[in-house]
Amino acid sequence: MPQPTRPVAPSRTIVSYVRRSPRMNDSQRQALTRLSDEYIVEVPRGELSTSVAPGTTVEWRERFGREAPLVVEIGSGTGDSLVAMAAARPAMNVVAFEVYERAVASSLLKLADARVHNVRLVVADGVQGLEQLVSVGTLAELWTFFPDPWHKTRHHKRRLVSPAFAALVATRLVPGGLWRLATDWPDYAEWMREVLDAEPALENAHADAPGGRAPRPPDRPVTRFEARGLAARRPVVDLLYRRMP
Ligand SMILES: C[S@@+](CC[C@H](N)C(=O)[O-])C[C@H]1O[C@@H](n2cnc3c(N)ncnc32)[C@H](O)[C@@H]1O
Repeated sequence: MPQPTRPVAPSRTIVSYVRRSPRMNDSQRQALTRLSDEYIVEVPRGELSTSVAPGTTVEWRERFGREAPLVVEIGSGTGDSLVAMAAARPAMNVVAFEVYERAVASSLLKLADARVHNVRLVVADGVQGLEQLVSVGTLAELWTFFPDPWHKTRHHKRRLVSPAFAALVATRLVPGGLWRLATDWPDYAEWMREVLDAEPALENAHADAPGGRAPRPPDRPVTRFEARGLAARRPVVDLLYRRMP
């Protein structure tokens, strides 16, 4: 279980993902060619092909062509939640970080099919992206749905949700800003609650509910990962934390 100590900064060397590079199919390759200009934000790379070079900044107002409340999703996968939830929030600018390029290509096809235009995707580590590309106190919402569970104890340090990450998120959220999480792994749900409860700048918006669980957001669709958990009879836990004023 995580230690409730104040963290320093997220590690740059331990990452929450494994690089996978199976070949893209033709439609995914074409999607990247055809749709990247509208949706993909390129960033200079750091030490890894998924890292963001130190000192990089992005002017989101320019990238979206408008000023609007900013939402970030980390680990958007093939984009099912991203597309549905961004479509339900046309007045928000939604930035998604995903390291798996093939999944990003699938997301582009879904965004274009659904005619959703308030999304930009960055093929990069979302922890570094949040740290470097999102200014302090500017984030309206963060979404982390079904992050990789990293079951083995020796791999827990790779979990996206950690004390250092929670402290980073707290700095980026606006006062009253929301962090939506979901997982189908009971021990990761418990871990998330312990880590986030220990972060003094965050509060559970449903602290009095059984297990501190939030109701499922009505517009969060059932993704492939969630369906797999449900088929295995794992209970899906939604959590909602709020940045203290
Ligand atoms: C289990 S999948 C869930 C995908 C999606 N949220 C869903 O519910 O279908 C986790 C995803 O997070 C991505 N990921 C993990 N760590 C990441 C990070 N630090 N930055 C960006 N993407 C990350 C993985 O590549 C993978 O696509």
